[in-house]
Amino acid sequence: MLAIYPGSFDPVTNGHLDLVERASRVFGRVIVAVAPNPLKATLFTIEERLAMLREVCSEWPNVEVDSMPGLLVEYARSRGAHVIVKGLRAVSDFEFELQMALMNRRQAPTIETVFMMTGAEYSYLSSSIVKEVASLGGSVEGLVPQAVLDRLTQKLGARGCEYKR
Ligand code: PNS
Repeated sequence: MLAIYPGSFDPVTNGHLDLVERASRVFGRVIVAVAPNPLKATLFTIEERLAMLREVCSEWPNVEVDSMPGLLVEYARSRGAHVIVKGLRAVSDFEFELQMALMNRRQAPTIETVFMMTGAEYSYLSSSIVKEVASLGGSVEGLVPQAVLDRLTQKLGARGCEYKR
């Protein structure tokens, strides 16, 4: 079975990768789909996010990385996927995820959202907190893959504290 794992991935964290690994064990194929979010200011371009994801997901042969221009359910339909996989870190994620799952179900009743629990060690981790700490000079080593760490250093080295959440 094919599952779509959507997100902003700005940038991909070890928490996301924990979920990719779990999903790759449960589903025959997983597409990690990068969404542009017009409501969010991003640090990395879509191309940069795709490049980082492709690099760090290459170890899973059944995982593909793609970009997703519009509605998630439309993208899922276009790829022939009937499952959307989402990660839940804590209870605080639930309310918004429930809202999205029910809206997606309303748009596409035969596409099911499946929630998987992120590893407890990543329960506090988010792309936003990684960017905030890194932009203020803190260490995010061990929280993101090395490829992301390098790009964060490059990008924030140039922009320093200019980056705002
Ligand atoms: O990593 P994020 O920012 O929490 O991911 C949110 C994402 C990309 C999954 C969500 O914004 C999304 O599904 N965007 C695609 C557009 C869409 O279908 N929006 C309606 C969702 S109910």
